Amino acid sequence: MRTCSQSGPGAARTPVLVHAGGLIHARDREEQVRAQAISSGIFSLLISSSHINKRITELAHNIICTERARRHEEICLLIVLKGAVFFGCRLAREISSAGSLPVAMHFISAASYGNQAHSSGRCRIAGNLNALHGKDVIVVEDILDSGRTLYKLKNHLLKKAHAASVTICVLLDKPGGRKARFQNMGRIDYIGFRIPAVFVAGGGLDYFDQFRELPFIVAVHDKALCV
Ligand code: XMP
Ligand code: MG
Repeated sequence: MRTCSQSGPGAARTPVLVHAGGLIHARDREEQVRAQAISSGIFSLLISSSHINKRITELAHNIICTERARRHEEICLLIVLKGAVFFGCRLAREISSAGSLPVAMHFISAASYGNQAHSSGRCRIAGNLNALHGKDVIVVEDILDSGRTLYKLKNHLLKKAHAASVTICVLLDKPGGRKARFQNMGRIDYIGFRIPAVFVAGGGLDYFDQFRELPFIVAVHDKALCV
């Protein structure tokens, strides 16, 4: 990650961050604060936006092939808010532009982290799941860490929403965070990237409720977040 100056009026006070995936124009105070957080070394680039986008295209193709082989007539995505919103929407677009199977998009909210680096130990699931009765559901989640969220969500979908089957697709897998009691949730069918045990933000994931919108993923070097 490096910074460079912008040409033209206002160049002196408008830093431009250059990263592997493009440019961020820091236009106002809030964006300047964000820009400083990135350039000050609190963040370091972990996965560039071009890598993320390429990988999502690959995942979309894998999903289409598998769903066709399973003779499913529709691809039913359940996107877990908030973290998987960008990942899920892009994945849906990629699947749809390949054009072979219709895509249904559903959303659910699952929260276990709050604003801390360590999971609260509880997981709140909220959303209307009536439409998933009898469906082959692909859960789209931002990150698999301890495993608690996906373990609980999978059970909830099978036992309470009566989904026919549940397949899991995560953008990130942090195996170092896994808790033994959530190991037996079964196979994770689709994984974007395996990452080390660091706290990450961007690509939908937040750091104190900010930075979700970054198109790339950064590791957060904050001593208060001892992951
Ligand atoms: P579990 O522990 O339930 O975690 O597998 C999954 C949920 O926790 C959040 N999470 C993170 N959020 N940076 C974040 O911004 C991280 O490094 C991180 N690790 C876990 C995430 O919301 C996920 O749904
Ligand atoms: Mg999440």
